[in-house]
Amino acid sequence: MAIELPPPPLQRGRLSHAAYTDSEVEREAKRLRDAIKQPFRWSLETCRSIAPLTLEINQLKQEKDVFLIAHSYQTPDITYGVADSVADSYALSKEARDAPQRTILFSSVRFMAETAKIVSPHKTVLHPSPDAGCSLSDAITAQDVRDIRTKYPGLPVVCYINTSAEVKAECDVCVTSSNYLRICERLPGNGIIFVPDKFMGKHLQNHLAGKKDVIIFDGECEVHAAFTGEKIRTWRKRASEAGMNLQVLSHPECDTDVLEESDFVGSSEILMEEALRLASIGKKDLMLITECGTTDRVLAESEVDLNLVGACVMCRHMKTTQLEDILQSLRDPRPDQIINLEPSVIERAGHCLDQMFSLAE
Ligand code: 13P
Ligand code: SF4
Repeated sequence: MAIELPPPPLQRGRLSHAAYTDSEVEREAKRLRDAIKQPFRWSLETCRSIAPLTLEINQLKQEKDVFLIAHSYQTPDITYGVADSVADSYALSKEARDAPQRTILFSSVRFMAETAKIVSPHKTVLHPSPDAGCSLSDAITAQDVRDIRTKYPGLPVVCYINTSAEVKAECDVCVTSSNYLRICERLPGNGIIFVPDKFMGKHLQNHLAGKKDVIIFDGECEVHAAFTGEKIRTWRKRASEAGMNLQVLSHPECDTDVLEESDFVGSSEILMEEALRLASIGKKDLMLITECGTTDRVLAESEVDLNLVGACVMCRHMKTTQLEDILQSLRDPRPDQIINLEPSVIERAGHCLDQMFSLAE
C-alpha cells in the first residue's frame, strides 16, 4: 500500500502568483501602504512585493464566495490587506455565525477556527495554519475538565474561548475577554469552576469575592504572562518625570499586579477602541500591555499622531499565518486546512457557545 507523505512545507515567498499589470500592482501597493500606516516597516517597496498576493487573495474570495475573518493579532498585511472583518474573539465568533457566505476562512489560531465551525457547522471553515495553537488552549484537555467536575460536583464549568472544541463540549458556558466578568456574575449559584486561564480566574475571584467561590485551573497565555506590574511602575515614573500623562491599557490575560497598575482593561478590540478614544481627546501617551497586533491596529486607525510607550509582545502562534498560507488554502485547501469536528462535539460545544451568546447580550 502506498504511504501518503505529509505535504512539503510552504516555501516562503516562493509561491507563484497570478500575473497583474504594473499599474494594478502599484495601485494595490499604495492602498496597502496607506491602510497600514507604518511606512518605516511597510514601505511602498515592501507593499509592492506583497501586492500580487493580496490582489489574488481578494479576487479568489470574490470568485469562491469566501468571507475572510482575521483576529486583531494577525499581521497588518492580512488585517488591512485581505480581511473582510477584524476584531476580538467574541465579535468574530458572531460574524462567523452570521456570515451569509458558505465558506469562512479564519486567519488566526486553531481554537478560533474551530469556534467558527461550531457556530456554523454547515459552512466550510478553512484554517490556513493547522499548527497555529495557543498556550492557553494547549493547557487543558477534555479529561481535565471531567476530572475537575468530579472533584467539585454540582458547580457549573465556565471555559474561556481559548480552548479546543473537545474542551468546550465538556463545559457549561463559554466566555471571552469582553464578557467573562458579566457572564460569571449572571450565573446562578454561589460557585463556579473557571478554566483554563489562572490570571482571569484570579480576576474573577477578586471580582466575585463574597458572592461566589471560583475554582481555577493553572493555564496562562505565554504572551500576556510576560508583562509585570514592576515594568509599568518603572515606565510610569519615567514618563511622569518627562512630563507625560501615561495611560496604561491592559488585556485581562495579564496577572493581577499588571491590572492593578492599569488605567483600563479590555479585550483586544475594546483596548483598541479606548486607545483611539483617548488619542482623540488629546491623551496621546499610551502604553498598550498586550500583543503587538493591537498596536498595529491602533497605529493604522488613529487619526492623530500617538506616542506609544514601551514594547508589545508578539504571539508566535498568531504570527504563524502568512499571505502565502492564505492564498494556498484558498486555491486548493489541504485536508488539514479544513476544520472537521465530530458531530457530537459540535452539538455539545455549540450548547456551551449558545449559552455565552444568550448571557452576553
Ligand atoms: P480577544 O478576545 O481579546 O481578542 O483575545 C483573544 C486572545 O487570544 C488574546 O490573547
Ligand atoms: Fe493564545 Fe496568548 Fe497567543 Fe492569545 S496571545 S493566541 S492567548 S498564546
